[in-house]
Amino acid sequence: MILVTGATGTIGRTLLRLLTERDVPVRAMSRTPERIPAGIQVVQGDYEDPDSLRKAVDGVDAVFLVSAPGATIPRYDLALLDVAGDAGKLVKISAMKTGDFGFRATSAWHLPGEQAIQDSDREWTILRPSVFASNSLAWVPQIKAGEAIPTYYGDGGAGVVDPRDIAAVAVEALLTSDHNKQIYTLTGSEILSVADQAAHLGKLLGKSLQVIDVPSDQMRAGMLAQGMDNDAADLAVEGYEAVRSGAAAFVTDDVTRVLGRAPRTFQQWAQDHKELFG
Ligand SMILES: NC(=O)c1ccc[n+]([C@@H]2O[C@H](COP(=O)([O-])OP(=O)(O)OC[C@H]3O[C@@H](n4cnc5c(N)ncnc54)[C@H](OP(=O)(O)O)[C@@H]3O)[C@@H](O)[C@H]2O)c1
Repeated sequence: MILVTGATGTIGRTLLRLLTERDVPVRAMSRTPERIPAGIQVVQGDYEDPDSLRKAVDGVDAVFLVSAPGATIPRYDLALLDVAGDAGKLVKISAMKTGDFGFRATSAWHLPGEQAIQDSDREWTILRPSVFASNSLAWVPQIKAGEAIPTYYGDGGAGVVDPRDIAAVAVEALLTSDHNKQIYTLTGSEILSVADQAAHLGKLLGKSLQVIDVPSDQMRAGMLAQGMDNDAADLAVEGYEAVRSGAAAFVTDDVTRVLGRAPRTFQQWAQDHKELFG
């Protein structure tokens, strides 16, 4: 029995489908169980509620661990690890370059959980994805309104990865012992800037999509206006600037090594989600 946390999320949703297609027993965790497709075992679980987590992990052999991006990640990771004990397998979604200078914000989110997992006696695999192809869904309002797509990364590229490939790698890590104690950095096979992605989307949609650069000081002001404190805003801006300066402009062959095939392209992801762009 595999507990899939974040089962309504970007990766968890696909992971549920891939595991049920293989008839693997799964338990899907969500704060709103009615969002889980019928026929799948579901548990109401909230990282803020340890009792609900205890029920969620009861009797499972493996846990897929993910939660929404943000400063709550370390607390949520440790809450789950605390109730899960040392038995069984754990696969955690982390982020590229966790622990690297320049990525201090995402490192602060993911490093505590990564370290606790590595210090345990259980089987584990840590997946550190690059930028998700699905992040481009954030541009839907601008695309529909005929406005320019904002970029916080300037011309900085990233090895944009299809979340379905991340889920497929998670399946292998959960179902085989081949990936025990491995940290994989998951990327696509080409480096793409926001402008590159917009060009692919524009071609697909038959529209000319413009991109507008959001300078760091403007980005920081926006974060403060949304209630973020100074330190958090500085760290977040530092992360965007790292990507802007090219720190995310790399690809790895980890997806290919685990899946035995090349990663899906951004064009494939866009084609398969074309209807979401209107
Ligand atoms: N987007 C990227 O480019 C990128 C790149 C690298 C790494 N990552 C990492 O990928 C992870 C997933 O990001 P995402 O944007 O795709 O998020 P997501 O998985 O789509 O959404 C978050 C999931 O977390 C669950 N969740 C949130 N708060 C919860 C709580 N208190 N208790 C229980 N479940 C809770 C939600 O479940 P319910 O609402 O159903 O309860 C939802 O299924 C993050 O850790 C992020 O740092 C993202």
